[in-house]
Amino acid sequence: MTKKSILAFSGGLDTSVVVKYLQEEHEMDVITVTVDVGQGDDQKKITAKAKKLGVKKHYNIDAKKEFVTDYVFPSIKANALYQKKYCLATALARPLIAEKILYIAKKEKVTSLAHGCTGKGNDQVRFDVTLRSGSDLPIIAPIRDKNLDRVTELKFAQEQGIDIDTVAKKYSIDQNLWGRAIEGGVLEDSYAEPPDDAFIWVRTKNLPDKPTYMEIKFDQGVPVAVDGKMLDPVKLVEYINKKAGAAGVGIVDHIEDRIVGIKSREVYETPAATCLIEAHTDLEKMVHTKHQNKFKPMVDDQWAYMAYSGLWQDPLKQNLDAFIESSQGVVSGVVKLKLYKGSLRVVGRKSRHSLYSREAATYGTGSTFDQRLAKGFVELWGIQSTEANKLQKKRSTKT
Ligand code: ARG
Repeated sequence: MTKKSILAFSGGLDTSVVVKYLQEEHEMDVITVTVDVGQGDDQKKITAKAKKLGVKKHYNIDAKKEFVTDYVFPSIKANALYQKKYCLATALARPLIAEKILYIAKKEKVTSLAHGCTGKGNDQVRFDVTLRSGSDLPIIAPIRDKNLDRVTELKFAQEQGIDIDTVAKKYSIDQNLWGRAIEGGVLEDSYAEPPDDAFIWVRTKNLPDKPTYMEIKFDQGVPVAVDGKMLDPVKLVEYINKKAGAAGVGIVDHIEDRIVGIKSREVYETPAATCLIEAHTDLEKMVHTKHQNKFKPMVDDQWAYMAYSGLWQDPLKQNLDAFIESSQGVVSGVVKLKLYKGSLRVVGRKSRHSLYSREAATYGTGSTFDQRLAKGFVELWGIQSTEANKLQKKRSTKT
């Protein structure tokens, strides 16, 4: 029986090299699957590329809608930013891609599962863990197994007549609807400012002189309309990416702790994520109590950590999801954003579930809040702190 492997195929350097490697060194038939999560690649070109590499069969799966509704939207509810910065674009797509691979793997009765991840990154963890949760077939990861580096891969690709586009020669890119990650090349110098050519979604030059306003409407934690227009999930994200990117909003540059312990310099373009998470976080503060506002960020942080770390299927992640979901019933309303030359600011918010009461908060006349009640409250609130402090002072004057 010929051995048959299935590979998540992007058409990029790593996965192209893997096809050849599986065919030549493992003497396997290769089935490739490209899962469209909004990476903006021409599926026809990728199919042609796969065919040129001699794969037995190629699948294209459009998973854009599923990606946004089942992965991106839950991350918005969790205000998910790994290490306070990274919106998890790549991390969220991996479990979905792996699920699709498992589905085709069953259908095609393959004998092994393959991926093009390196042994230095996070994606190997995300792929392996999801694949393992659904299959006992061997996992082959040639780039990791052979300890290949990019220069060797580029050379191999050239020898094999594989065409690699010019951006891939400069940077390592991963992109989908939720963001574009740029790594490698000159960006590996942690002190060097990213050159303009690293960015294609966010404008860095000739930014408009007038501010751009954007109104985002949420219904139970989910964004449903922008600028007064109801939009389907995919269109909504695309619309914000375009509009915010044109105002220069959405560049993230930080040092990130990878799962395997390496620190990496990561640069991202995430206009929609930046706007949506900022807006959602702001709205929650208006509709949640101060106790919820103190506690939920801890849950959110853990959620982002789990999603980043390839633990999408872990029971704790499900527990966190249940908590987060239970908090979203009141997260409905509209948030107004002002975008100007790369900066982003929330300048207004409203909700029918608002706990903000102008009548209570006002410094003007007729407030419903009786200040006189505060005196006793403050006394009790501070009692332990003031007593302890008095004792400390007493002790320090004795010695
Ligand atoms: N550091 C991010 C993550 O692990 C993005 C990785 C993107 N990959 C790439 N080849 N640029 O989720």
